[in-house]
Amino acid sequence: MLLLRDRTAEILSQAARDAGDVLAFCHRWLGWEPHDGQRRWLTAPPRSTAVLVTGRRWGKSEVAAVQALRYAVTHPKSRQGIVSVTLDQARLSFDVALMFCQREPLLRILVERVKETPFPTLRFKHGSEITVRTAAREGIYLRGHKFDRVIVDEADYLSEALIDNVVRMTLADVGGQLVLISTPRARRGLVYRELQRGLAGDPTVYAQTGPTWENPNVDHDYIRSLRDRMTASAWQREVEGVYADDDAAVFGWQHIQAAYEESTWALPLPPDPRRRWVAGWDLAKSEDHTVGIVLDATEKPYRLAHFERFQRQPWPVVAARIRELHRRYACHQTLIDATGVGDAVLDEVRDVAQGFVFTQRSKLDLLTNLQVALEKREVRFPFVRELVDELQGYAFEDAKLSTDCVMALALAVWAAGPRGRVEFAPSIWA
Ligand SMILES: Nc1ncnc2c1ncn2[C@@H]1O[C@H](COP(=O)(O)OP(=O)(O)O)[C@@H](O)[C@H]1O
Ligand SMILES: [Mg+2]
Repeated sequence: MLLLRDRTAEILSQAARDAGDVLAFCHRWLGWEPHDGQRRWLTAPPRSTAVLVTGRRWGKSEVAAVQALRYAVTHPKSRQGIVSVTLDQARLSFDVALMFCQREPLLRILVERVKETPFPTLRFKHGSEITVRTAAREGIYLRGHKFDRVIVDEADYLSEALIDNVVRMTLADVGGQLVLISTPRARRGLVYRELQRGLAGDPTVYAQTGPTWENPNVDHDYIRSLRDRMTASAWQREVEGVYADDDAAVFGWQHIQAAYEESTWALPLPPDPRRRWVAGWDLAKSEDHTVGIVLDATEKPYRLAHFERFQRQPWPVVAARIRELHRRYACHQTLIDATGVGDAVLDEVRDVAQGFVFTQRSKLDLLTNLQVALEKREVRFPFVRELVDELQGYAFEDAKLSTDCVMALALAVWAAGPRGRVEFAPSIWA
């Protein structure tokens, strides 16, 4: 015991020695080598706000974990929160930190305990803590907490109000540091403005940007191969890491964000025979995904109840999934995309599902219906990254885009009651 305590004290003095040298910390404590962009981020001057906006897979979540560990090791009794739009997204960084704590001897000895509930938390023997929170349900899991440092991962998914009114409040007591990390989404958001302030030389904000290419640890050929499947603005955002003009966007970002921020439930919703359910399915053509969505269409706003997305399944399996979901919720209607490969599946599920025949005209109606439903806040869904990103990246010129989630949602919303068919309104022409 005494031996162990001595060892801890020795490790803490080692931490104090390495505190000023971030690269020494990365090497000695983590056996980890930052790439050039990460090195710049880690050696940046400390500011009350730090903003990192880059392409996907740049290594943001990983560097955030490294930085949180270093802060925890060098700041006894400090509390840090890793926050994101979902617990899963926030966990990505936390899990990297946890991995280092299990793998690296110096850290392993310093860890006091790891908790999983109610929220994942890592506690060190000198009293510092790293914990994870979701910003869901209007920040209910953050309110009343105090942090010395909050890292918001994929911060652009959080609304400005949530960051200002909830996240910043957790830092107010100690004047803690706010770290905003994101792939760019909307130009009108808080992250964008903080980034501009930092780039313009505001002394309270450190800002850094960078393309995915800065990370040598990801497959650059694979990323290049995605280019054909993205709109030009999606490519700029997701890979180049820059905020793009979005003239071709069909679904406005503020409407998409409202749809998930105003949702308060977790997936899936339990079936309930007193409610009216509908389903929409977009069936995979070769490499795409099959996506199935069930909505609770009892009243507006419709609520997304179930989401599933899978790849490379033979038709009988797909048909069985469609049938199972239809039965489970006793769906009022199940609508599937009946073009091309859809025909074969439709034949197998004709007793439960209807086919939606895509023509230029009907497709435009379908998408406009979804567009209006989103604008009028008539549909809500818990945050599902594939769905949210596909909605944002959608353009009417969609031949090369991934559209499975968009189409499944559009079909479900159509099944809930096409706008053209107003059943109970008395005609003003009668
Ligand atoms: N310095 C590094 N050394 C080795 N692998 C890294 C490094 N930085 C990031 N990676 C790897 O690159 C991939 C993308 O990193 P991630 O942090 O998830 O990116 P982002 O959060 O920017 O999308 C992950 O597989 C991660 O392990
Ligand atoms: Mg990440």
